[in-house]
Amino acid sequence: MIVPIIAPSILAADFARLGEQVRAVDAAGADWIHLDIMDGHFVPNLTFGPEVVKAIRPYSDKLFDVHLMIAPADPYLAAFAKAGADLISVHAEAGPHLDRSLQAIKALGKKAGVAVCPATPESAIEHVLERLDLIVVMTVNPGFGGQKFIPATLEKIRRLCAMSAGRPIRIEVDGGINAETAAAAVAAGADVLVAGSAIFGEPDYARAIEALRGQATSA
Ligand code: DX5
Ligand code: ZN
Repeated sequence: MIVPIIAPSILAADFARLGEQVRAVDAAGADWIHLDIMDGHFVPNLTFGPEVVKAIRPYSDKLFDVHLMIAPADPYLAAFAKAGADLISVHAEAGPHLDRSLQAIKALGKKAGVAVCPATPESAIEHVLERLDLIVVMTVNPGFGGQKFIPATLEKIRRLCAMSAGRPIRIEVDGGINAETAAAAVAAGADVLVAGSAIFGEPDYARAIEALRGQATSA
């Protein structure tokens, strides 16, 4: 049975109380903290940069899972590493030299991940498997929280699982994850669940996190 890692996405948090909100989900049982960085160019929305990551770093000792939805990513990797990222994921679609970006993340002493949009086939990351700690399967089109899970991504999770079998690579799902879709994603092979609205949209964070974990493990 897989016990998935639960990574609340602070995109759905109250930005006026970000530090407090990070502390609250940490205390409520979050395993990782998921940070969505958007540039208004790679995705049609803007969020925050390394200064905010640095500001909230003291509020949790949990792994900071930084999801870069920016292009180009390379010029900003060192700043996010310095700000306190533990794991940095770049998008496979964000630039022509994915392998170079992953080497740069590793050279900064951080764990490396690659995110793939729903439109991107898994073959796009076949050549970088040996560099990866994480594959982020986008289960919505990136850019906004609160979107609906795209069911066709379940097959891709299965294929990526088969492709990465035998390697120490985690499969994270991001977008539209709630108790129901979490169960389906874990059954397909995901072992890290990102959830924004399904956690921050609930009054009791600990209960929301447990609901995700519970649903998923019983799948
Ligand atoms: C979407 C982001 C997600 C988002 C998930 O582009 O990468 O991390 O915050 O939000 P929910 O769980 O509300 O779909
Ligand atoms: Zn994300």
